[in-house]
Amino acid sequence: MKAVYAHHPAADNPLEALRFGEQPEPGPPGDDWIVLGVVAAALNHHDLWTLRGAGLPADRYPMILGAEGLGADDDGRKLIIHGMVCRPEWRHEPIRDPGHSLLSDDHPGTFAERVAVPRHSVTCPKPEEFSDAEAACLTGTWLTAYRMLFTKSGLRPGDTVLVQGAGGGVATALIRLAAAAGLRVWVTSRSEAKREAALRLGAHTALPARAPVPEPVDAVMESVGQATWAHSLRSVRPGGTIVVTGATTGGDPPAYLNRLFWNELRVVGSTSGTPEELDRLIRFMLQHDLRPDIAAELPFDHAEEGFRRMLDGDLIGKVVFSW
Ligand SMILES: NC(=O)c1ccc[n+]([C@@H]2O[C@H](COP(=O)([O-])OP(=O)(O)OC[C@H]3O[C@@H](n4cnc5c(N)ncnc54)[C@H](OP(=O)(O)O)[C@@H]3O)[C@@H](O)[C@H]2O)c1
Repeated sequence: MKAVYAHHPAADNPLEALRFGEQPEPGPPGDDWIVLGVVAAALNHHDLWTLRGAGLPADRYPMILGAEGLGADDDGRKLIIHGMVCRPEWRHEPIRDPGHSLLSDDHPGTFAERVAVPRHSVTCPKPEEFSDAEAACLTGTWLTAYRMLFTKSGLRPGDTVLVQGAGGGVATALIRLAAAAGLRVWVTSRSEAKREAALRLGAHTALPARAPVPEPVDAVMESVGQATWAHSLRSVRPGGTIVVTGATTGGDPPAYLNRLFWNELRVVGSTSGTPEELDRLIRFMLQHDLRPDIAAELPFDHAEEGFRRMLDGDLIGKVVFSW
């Protein structure tokens, strides 16, 4: 079958390792797995990490990319695919399952004609109100943003949240969800065009990257890492919270422990989300008429264009591939 895959780890030039071509059909690793036809699949920064060789042993290449998407079963039912794979008997947060894995890490991903997924991780049918492309962005990106804001941050309506970055998949989801929930939403971005876009998405104030905030915020949503970490620590009020879900620009920034203990800050990690959070996310999006912002819809054989735009930071929202 045709697929978009990482041929080998390429730390300095990730696009050099990107391929479109023939890959083996997915062999379901067990009886509780099914094979779905891929309808649409969304690009995540995780796919760039895999091209760079981060998080995947060299002997696991070539690896089909893609950790979220929409599939169709043999009866043509469209099902949302949760890229986080845990054991069927696991009843707690997926990330806490010692045996958890991710599509495109331990198993071939969604950037293919077909993908094998555990039956229990595709229980969510596509809501008819969402287009195929919109439904393909829910589990990797919007679910992550939902958990950061509504499970991990402790924010309440009327509080102020700072979103670091404006254009990315997670950042655009955070802006829309936070504004709909009655939070005061401030964002930072390196680009004036993205700051203007963030205001259109519902942000109340958009600041240049690392510019001082008008007043300390109740919580910061951090996915940028090294480039914004010091600013996040400076921007949050004493007793406030920083929720961290990623570190695009580097995961080892200085700790600034003095600021941490003196201001009694909470630093909270957040990864993916649970099936229950996905149900609540979809209800919330339907109630508030929210849809993922799609920067580009491309055929799989033009995937390189989407990867290049993500690498260049030339996106406001998600890139979605389909056949
Ligand atoms: N833990 C999880 O479950 C989970 C889930 C999803 C994503 N993530 C992680 O979260 C991060 C963001 O993911 P994404 O898919 O939203 O990525 P993306 O679409 O590529 O977005 C990257 C974001 O980083 C911002 N940014 C600010 N300064 C930057 C700089 N110097 N260089 C590059 N980017 C900069 C960009 O904002 P501006 O361009 O507006 O400045 C943009 O909002 C990634 O590291 C990803 O691995 C984690």
